[in-house]
Formats: sequence, C-alpha cells, structure tokens
Amino acid sequence: MYSLAKSLLFQCDPEHAHELTIKGLAKTQHSPLAALYRRPLIQNPVQLMGLTFTNPVGLAAGLDKNGDCIDAFAAMGFGFIEVGTVTPRPQEGNEKPRLFRVKPAEGIINRMGFNNQGIDYLIENVKRSRYQGVLGINIGKNKDTPIEHGKDDYLICMEKSYPHAGYITVNISSPNTPDLRSLQYGEVLDDLLSSLKQKQKELAERHGKYVPLVVKIAPDLTSEEIEQIADSLVRFEIDGVIATNTTLDRSLIFDLPHAYEAGGLSGRPVQGKSTEVIAELARRLDGRLPIIGVGGIDSLTAAREKMAAGASLVQIYSGFIYHGPGLIQTLARHL
Ligand SMILES: Cc1cc2nc3c(=O)[nH]c(=O)nc-3n(C[C@H](O)[C@H](O)[C@H](O)COP(=O)(O)O)c2cc1C
Repeated sequence: MYSLAKSLLFQCDPEHAHELTIKGLAKTQHSPLAALYRRPLIQNPVQLMGLTFTNPVGLAAGLDKNGDCIDAFAAMGFGFIEVGTVTPRPQEGNEKPRLFRVKPAEGIINRMGFNNQGIDYLIENVKRSRYQGVLGINIGKNKDTPIEHGKDDYLICMEKSYPHAGYITVNISSPNTPDLRSLQYGEVLDDLLSSLKQKQKELAERHGKYVPLVVKIAPDLTSEEIEQIADSLVRFEIDGVIATNTTLDRSLIFDLPHAYEAGGLSGRPVQGKSTEVIAELARRLDGRLPIIGVGGIDSLTAAREKMAAGASLVQIYSGFIYHGPGLIQTLARHL
C-alpha cells in the first residue's frame, strides 16, 4: 500500500504530494478508510519528564504543522506525536518552490518558513482529535515579529497551548526564519529560557498540571556552543532537549541535484551530525535532562545509534517519507 502511494506521490512536486497526503489523511482519519493505514500500536512504554510515551518512536515536528491529522498518525502506531511549528498568527511561509527531494541521499531540503494557520486553528484541531497519547506542541515566532520581541510570540503560543499539550517544544533552530537561530546563544537564550520557565510556573498553578518544556536545537553548533546550551538548559530547569533540527551543511550532498537550494537539509545526510550533537550534549548533561534524538533515522541501526549516543526517545520525519509507516513498527518493536 505504501509502495504504491509512494510511487505515485514521488511523481508529484514534493509540496503538492505533501498537501495531498495531509488532506487525504485528514479526510479519512475518522472514517472506515483509516483501516488502510491503521497499524498495531506497539506497547513499549518509556517514562520520561513525568509522561508515559506508549513507545519510543515519535512523529517529528513539521509534517503536521496544523494538527490536521493527529488521529491518522496515531493510527499508524506512533508512540507520540509532535505538531507545529505553530506561530501566534497564521502566515504563508516562504515563496514556492520551497521543498526539494534529494533522492539519491534520501534527503529533503526545505525552506518552508513556518507556513501555518496559527495557534488558534491548531488548538481547535487538538480539541477535536481523539488521540490519548503524548502530544507535543512545537511553537515558534512569526516572521514579521522582530527578533527582539520573539520571546512574546513564544509566550503567547505557550499560554494557548499549555492546557492541551503533553509537552511544549520551543523551536529556536529552524534555519528558515531570519535570525531565529540567534536565540540559541548566550544572554539571549538565558533571557528566553528564564521567561518561559517563569510562565510555566504561572501556568502550572493556573491549570493544576505541569507541562514539560523542551528546547529543539540545530545540528550546526560547535562543541563550545553545545556545552553552553546544555549549561543554560540545566540552569533554567528545562525539562528536555530535542536534537536536532535540519542542517545548513551540504558537504555530504554537494554533487547531488538540488544540493544548493537554500534551506535546511534533513534525512540521511544529517544522520551523523545529529548523532554527534546528541553524544556531545549527553556528555555535558550527564543525565540531568533527557534527549529526544532526531535526524536521519531511516533504520533500526540508525535509531539504535541515537539511543547509544544518549537519546531516550526518537522522532522521524524524512525516514518516514522515504520508508513509510513500516519504519514506525520496526523501531517501536525493537528499540
Ligand atoms: C519539510 C520539513 C518541514 C519541517 N518543519 C519543521 C518545523 O516546522 N518545526 C521543527 O521543529 N522542525 C521541522 N522540521 C525538522 C524535523 O522535525 C526534523 O528535526 C529534521 O527533519 C531531522 O529529522 P529527519 O532527518 O528525520 O527528517 C522539518 C523538516 C522537514 C523535512
């Protein structure tokens, strides 16, 4: 079933294929047609950040940016699902074309630029979904919010998503929103984390529940930068870290089609780099906060490498596009 869908979808323009898939899943997820992609939900629970993840395999952010098909992805057997990145206001994202397959390397380049329908739309979808597992809501800033006011956008999204989220991911690592990655460094990072932590305390009291805060980082960081980020995450009692987002590095695909399209590269070409970041983070964190590993996971071996480097859970995006829902089952069963 997946091979057929893939051979048809891979003949379309990548963004068109993505839209068709999301629309199809959204339409069928509450109908008998969902049987076409329903797979067993493997019970291989992981306790982390006070949450129980049904199995260690999650859907990475960016595939279901608006939470349109949460129940469809749940039906495929993911142990947890992350929706977003969502911003306070709806926005179009960058000009098309903005999504490219690098097929020989099983890579994807995207410069989507947080195209999304805004936090209110996403929350309505979350309320409508029947999903009982852990739902991460990944939040970002609008492109037209000046970076010095970026914090306000995260606080708005945090306030609105808090009652509905299993955990909240603070995305400061997309390469496609100007200056966003500058939030990963030094005093700017500390200021952001301090405000988010303060907000989490207020919201925990108001809603009578504690929702973990997780920060998602880039793979393009030096050892010193990783150490500094790790120290800040510990100092501000952040609950977890997702490593990594997409890379700007093209060294592994320099001779392949689309290699020099602007944007973030994901899939197999980011696998090694993201594993290195996880290993470096794990050394510095020394178990003080958990790591969710993502980047180029396309097989059980690749997922095991992430775990061996220090990840407690994994997420997939590009590997899921190239290998289909069978990958979820393999990983969920054997990790
Ligand atoms: C088309 C596309 C859109 C993405 N959008 C987001 C996003 O909105 N927010 C985010 O945190 N990560 C986003 N990502 C990054 C993925 O969540 C993941 O961190 C990255 O692709 C590495 O994993 P992979 O190699 O399994 O794809 C996106 C990735 C792709 C390919």
